[in-house]
Amino acid sequence: MPKTLQQQIQTFYDDSSGLWEQVWGEHMHHGYYGPAGTERKERRQAQIDLIEELLTWGGVAEAGAILDVGCGIGGSSLYLADKFGATATGITLSPVQARRATERAAAAGLGSSRQDRFANRVQFQVTDALAMPFADGSFDLVWSMESGEHMPDKTQFLQECYRVLKPGGTFLMATWCHRPIDESPLTAEEQRHLEKIYRVYRLPYIISLGEYEAIAQSLGYQHLRTADWSAAVAPFWNEVVRSAISPAAVIGLLRSGWGTMQAAMSMGLMQSGYRRGLVRFGVGLAIRAQASERLVQSWRLDQS
Ligand SMILES: C[S@@+](CC[C@H](N)C(=O)[O-])C[C@H]1O[C@@H](n2cnc3c(N)ncnc32)[C@H](O)[C@@H]1O
Repeated sequence: MPKTLQQQIQTFYDDSSGLWEQVWGEHMHHGYYGPAGTERKERRQAQIDLIEELLTWGGVAEAGAILDVGCGIGGSSLYLADKFGATATGITLSPVQARRATERAAAAGLGSSRQDRFANRVQFQVTDALAMPFADGSFDLVWSMESGEHMPDKTQFLQECYRVLKPGGTFLMATWCHRPIDESPLTAEEQRHLEKIYRVYRLPYIISLGEYEAIAQSLGYQHLRTADWSAAVAPFWNEVVRSAISPAAVIGLLRSGWGTMQAAMSMGLMQSGYRRGLVRFGVGLAIRAQASERLVQSWRLDQS
């Protein structure tokens, strides 16, 4: 039987996460190379800088309870929990990632092996972001670092994130997008380019930043902001290509299966996607309305 998208995503990350961690470390996302992408820096530092830049841009200086949607092996969850002295819950479709993230939390002294008040401060589970088992209003910060592109229903994704945020809580996202389509729709050739990327990286489809904004607006999010950081992150792919030809990476690739090999061999699709302005790196900030703002909003809708 052909695999569902979710099974494909699971297999992709089950098979590739060990190699990624070995070559790249715990963060499975782009790096930040200055606003114009001209700063040269060590690659792990560039990834930490992306997290820090996003927090600064979003004005997030504190958080008590954090949800990391599409957590990988817990790179952001542990970083944010440590930075803010917060609790963090990470969710992923990959059992291999959830297990490894749990081991990393234990090694950092934030997992279930502790008996004191720090026990279980960071937890990981296999959970679908489109149907989360968390109560409404559970989190101060919902963080999604490069997971939105995998979601087959972007509205349901943003709706679930809204539901689990506390009123006044912050949603902060970085995601792969395509260029804006207000002035001209994607050409057939651009679609073909994107479809190759979808196949290799197990994405259902991506949308433009403007489309994310429209969805968030329709769901009642407030104080929306978006920005295109493509120039700042595009050099990342040159780094990945360079690292993939190291002997350790080549041996690891041969061991980790066809899906991972294909992804490694297709990095040029992302490089050329950025070069031609088709692939974009979007960031978004949105706040869950306070209860009183919701009332005013529904009153306005009733009147219109
Ligand atoms: C590119 S990785 C990013 C990992 C992590 N955010 C980081 O930056 O290190 C994408 C992650 O999204 C997760 N993911 C994709 N679709 C998901 C879904 N429907 N529900 C939960 N997680 C999902 C994958 O399992 C994977 O952990």
